[in-house]
Order: sequence, then C-alpha cells, then structure tokens
Amino acid sequence: MTRATFAAGALLLAMVRAPASAVAEEQFAPEQIKRGASIFSQNCAPCHGPHMADPQGAFDLRTFPPEQKSRFLNSVTRGKNQMPPWGDLFQADEIEALWSYVMAGEKK
Ligand code: HEC
Repeated sequence: MTRATFAAGALLLAMVRAPASAVAEEQFAPEQIKRGASIFSQNCAPCHGPHMADPQGAFDLRTFPPEQKSRFLNSVTRGKNQMPPWGDLFQADEIEALWSYVMAGEKK
C-alpha cells in the first residue's frame, strides 16, 4: 500500500475496505462508532439485544471474529437464516459504521 492510498483510506475510512492484513489493527473514528451505535440501537437491538448485550437467540455480536469482516458484510447485506437482509436499507458506509461499532464494542 502506498502512502497516497493510505491517506485516502484514512480520509474515506467509512468507504474504503481495509485489506485483510490490516483488519486486526483497524482504527475507527469515534463519530463512526457513534453512528454505528445509533443504527444498531434502532435496527439491530430488537434481536441482538440493547448495546449488543442479551442477544437471546440471535448471534452474540460481542463475539464476532474481527478477522472475518467480509463475513460480517456478507451476512448483514444478504441476511442469514432468521436474520433479514439489510443491503437494501443501508448504504455501504452505514454497514461500515455498524462494523466499527461491533468491533469497537460497547463502552462500559
Ligand atoms: C429479526 C431479528 C434480527 C435483526 C433485526 C437483526 N438480526 Fe442479526 N441475526 C439474527 C439471527 C437470528 C442471527 C443468527 C443467524 C444464524 O446464524 O442462523 C443473526 C446473525 C447476525 C450476524 C452473524 C452472521 C454470521 O455470519 O454468522 C451478524 C453479523 C448480524 N446478525 C448483524 C446484524 C446487524 C448489524 C443488524 C442490524 C442492521 C442485525 N443483525 C439485525 C437476527 C436479527
């Protein structure tokens, strides 16, 4: 990755998909995490639990593997079994915001 692409990536954090090797060290802007938290509380919390706690029968997102971002994007966009697809509702940058929230975790 060149310096130029890195700078562009940092600027367009919400839209640029980090290469797999960088995923574990992904850094998220606080505004992006906040945005994800807000989308989550309105759309995902009914099944995955408020603040990701108490997900009942749905997947416990606090345990989602950080190295499987493409699985996250895929499942959220297309749905999985009992979970409806979200790809028509959210833009890619909104799903990125959700990812940042899930990865950053809920502040205690
Ligand atoms: C109607 C209930 C419901 C809602 C709303 C919902 N989910 Fe889910 N979700 C589920 C269920 C049930 C599963 C488990 C699917 C399975 O593995 O069979 C799941 C699984 C997942 C998984 C794991 C998929 C995998 O690859 O194993 C992710 C990530 C996820 N949900 C994210 C989200 C996000 C983000 C939202 C909000 C945009 C959301 N969910 C809203 C019910 C829901």
